[in-house]
Amino acid sequence: MSENISRRDLLKSTGLGLGAALVGLPSSGVHAEPIHRREKPLGANDTVVLGLIGCGGMGAANMRTLMDKNGVKVAALCDVDESRMTNDINDVTKKYGAKPDLYKDFRKMLERKDIDAVIVGTPDHWHALPLILACEAGKDAYCEKPISHDITEAKAMAAAVKKFKRIVQVGTWQRSTKEFTDALAYVRSGKIGKIVTGRAWRTDNSKVGRMTTQPVPATLDYDFWNGPAAFMPYAPNHVHGNWRWFLNYGTGMTGDWGVHMMDIVLLGLSQTTDIPMPTEVTTIGGKYYATDDDRTAPDTVETIMKFKDPDVLFTWQTGRDFPGRPDHGSEWTSADGKSVRAWRGGWKVMGPYGEEIKAEPAPATNDHWQNWLDCIKTREQTRSNLASMAQTTIVCHLANVSYLARQTVHWDKAKMDLVGKAGRDTTSYYREYRKPWKLPIHTA
Ligand SMILES: NC(=O)c1ccc[n+]([C@@H]2O[C@H](COP(=O)([O-])OP(=O)(O)OC[C@H]3O[C@@H](n4cnc5c(N)ncnc54)[C@H](O)[C@@H]3O)[C@@H](O)[C@H]2O)c1
Repeated sequence: MSENISRRDLLKSTGLGLGAALVGLPSSGVHAEPIHRREKPLGANDTVVLGLIGCGGMGAANMRTLMDKNGVKVAALCDVDESRMTNDINDVTKKYGAKPDLYKDFRKMLERKDIDAVIVGTPDHWHALPLILACEAGKDAYCEKPISHDITEAKAMAAAVKKFKRIVQVGTWQRSTKEFTDALAYVRSGKIGKIVTGRAWRTDNSKVGRMTTQPVPATLDYDFWNGPAAFMPYAPNHVHGNWRWFLNYGTGMTGDWGVHMMDIVLLGLSQTTDIPMPTEVTTIGGKYYATDDDRTAPDTVETIMKFKDPDVLFTWQTGRDFPGRPDHGSEWTSADGKSVRAWRGGWKVMGPYGEEIKAEPAPATNDHWQNWLDCIKTREQTRSNLASMAQTTIVCHLANVSYLARQTVHWDKAKMDLVGKAGRDTTSYYREYRKPWKLPIHTA
């Protein structure tokens, strides 16, 4: 099958739910049914047995939070760099009195029948495959944000989660923290009136420096780490933690923090977790201060999005600083000039001249990780369920699509696809996986 045909068919099948047969399933061991489906769901008192894929910063942080909860056991750890597992091995061993099983290849871990769920804590270019293969294996998942590296992956992930009826919590934990849930409840109550503009922002002062190609450390399987992304010769400044500043692996500040901050604003434009999608997205940006630096993601971005339902203009900004404001935030403004602003640590309601308006909080919810554990047992939707977070993630990707395409792009929510040709050639919309990796496409 030529590259053009496979690309066209892949886009067709992910976009419209058509053409799975055309792309020649199974593409990489795609299963029709979960292969390890439990005979019956976990009971309220059953232990949820977990595996961690990606033992870096956030994967390990999620694991530790979950280890502090009742009814959880971490049985296995997986990383392509064994040096990243040391602390986690120690902590798990201390907690359960036995060393966890260790894996380099997550597919081997997914073969384990005793593992109920996995944490996907890998870099953005390595979310889609572990998540989809976990769904095929009948595992639930806690998947880090942004859910994917591009729009095509996001749709493939949503289709797999739906088809295999998996319970997935995405790591947008602001959906569960008090300042954001208070602000959101206030906006949704209509107390400030009809929302006409939304705004989300985040300071970006990240640099990775300049580095030349270097020998790969003995502990790291760099080819595996690079995975489905286009191959870049090894240099330490684009690997652990820093990959987010390279659009080949990450999504820049737009997918890193933007997904958190934009998500809250978008939720405030809806009464449910069905996220409104923009009809028109324009981004202008570039590297303005990180000029002598290897990062490829822009350090300065202005994105304007037009929504029709509801009728709202939404701005996403990242730049060197935002004097007078928190260095990140989510904000809504109403037709009569009132605003609600939320950030990590606080929220407030303001009148047209910035005067603070007293506002009552909403009832507290359980935390993000507990919500996932509860939903694994009840099989109810999580607060940051994958379908909803696929929508928010796609909004972020659309900002990057417009930036890369250097033109305004249009979106059709009913078809969940770009309108016309603009943006389709960007890697934030779709990119061919590096061999031998293949993106499995399921029809939901
Ligand atoms: N929710 C949040 O607040 C939050 C905060 C930080 C990061 N994150 C997200 O968490 C994810 C991880 O970010 P990080 O900063 O911890 O990155 P990191 O680079 O510190 O850790 C990623 C780990 O995954 C490993 N890895 C890479 N490919 C792998 C593979 N195929 N199989 C197994 N292991 C693999 C790496 O070796 C590394 O140890 C990202 O998606 C990021 O956006 C979320």
